[in-house]
Amino acid sequence: MAAIYEPSAAAETSLDGPAVGVIVVAAGSGTRLGAGIPKAFVSLAGSTVLEHALAPVFRLREPVQLVLVVPADRVGEAETIGRRAAGRASDHLRVVVGGGTRQESVLNGLAALWPGVRTVLVHDAARALTPTAQFERVIEAAARTGWGVVPALPVTDTIKQVDASAVVERTIDRAELRAVQTPQAFPRDALVAAFRVAAERLAAATDDAALYADAGHPVVTVEGSEAAFKITTPWDAQRAERLLTAPAAADALADRADTGLPSSSPTPQPGRIRTGIGIDVHAFAEAGELHLAGLSWPGERALAGHSDGDAVAHAIVDALLSAAGLGDIGSMFGTDDPRFAGARGSVFLEAAVERLRAAGYEVVNVAVQLVGNRPRFAPRRLEAESVLGALVGGPVSIAATTTDSLGFTGRGEGVTAVATALIERR
Ligand code: CTP
Ligand code: MG
Repeated sequence: MAAIYEPSAAAETSLDGPAVGVIVVAAGSGTRLGAGIPKAFVSLAGSTVLEHALAPVFRLREPVQLVLVVPADRVGEAETIGRRAAGRASDHLRVVVGGGTRQESVLNGLAALWPGVRTVLVHDAARALTPTAQFERVIEAAARTGWGVVPALPVTDTIKQVDASAVVERTIDRAELRAVQTPQAFPRDALVAAFRVAAERLAAATDDAALYADAGHPVVTVEGSEAAFKITTPWDAQRAERLLTAPAAADALADRADTGLPSSSPTPQPGRIRTGIGIDVHAFAEAGELHLAGLSWPGERALAGHSDGDAVAHAIVDALLSAAGLGDIGSMFGTDDPRFAGARGSVFLEAAVERLRAAGYEVVNVAVQLVGNRPRFAPRRLEAESVLGALVGGPVSIAATTTDSLGFTGRGEGVTAVATALIERR
């Protein structure tokens, strides 16, 4: 047996980079999908097939090198998509040009692997909904056995062998059959050698494991997943889109429920992420101390109001409540409720955040624009952002501007604050 046994090869990262390389082939034209553009660049539930395909790779526990193989005229676009999917890990990404056949595309990908890669996974971008757990299973089995590894599903249809004129010759025992998917994993050197031999002999195969097995190496199967189906036809694309926009169905298919991992969809699930807006205006008062953006401003003119007049805090409260569909500051607290006479902005903020949490939401971020001549905000911006951030339990950013002497803010009669909030269901 030609197996190379390397017990922990798949888990190490050496000075030469990660020990695992993932080649994602995305250079096909997508003839059967018929979208008029290469399949990987077709839009699916608000992002591209390619972006969906890359998302699970960047959720792997251990770092990998990712080689993305794309059509020659799509390299720039692929770099952008790849970097977006990779985030801070974008130095793990390489984009190369594919060939006229899938096999040539894989060969180009193999040539771009870094020196440290010992185990290589080859994956079809067209299997865009493949769960991370499937990648992990394949990597684990490759490390354990040192063999070729393919994810596979039992065949559910009865299979007939037919002759040239479509006459049934026999029924094949389906218990022995498996439908194979990607990613498929192989020891790098042995796969490269198998591809070279195939290229010399002009041998073609429909998957990488066939070439690898033809070179005399053993291949084992691990459990595949219904979600890893290949998007080939418009029907498949429609099915994938439906699964992406109905997360519960996709989770069930992708066996994600027991992984504790977030959904593989980079598209926000409907109703999960919500945005809100709030505005508040207060006039300057004759006397008193200014409270604005959660801070006291000794020596500055106070703002008038039933409470402390903190327009920034009040605009944030409205933005938060609006995002969660919980009404507004007036309907929640009552604008002239005597209990809130002179109350600090923090009181309203804490109460609003509590209501949000009770409704199942967390704050993703809050952004505020303050409009007014006074106080000069910039020197205390960071202080205000950190006080308000602690109150809402998420990042708060505040910008301040004047209105070129125009309007009531320009005449110095008062201030306006506009806030937006992004919240997410837990
Ligand atoms: N592929 C590739 N280079 C090629 C052909 C295919 O990288 N010359 C990739 C595809 O982008 C796809 C995977 O191989 O991710 C599986 O191929 P397939 O589903 O057949 O995609 P296409 O070849 O693009 O589609 P079609 O056969 O309908 O044209
Ligand atoms: Mg094809």
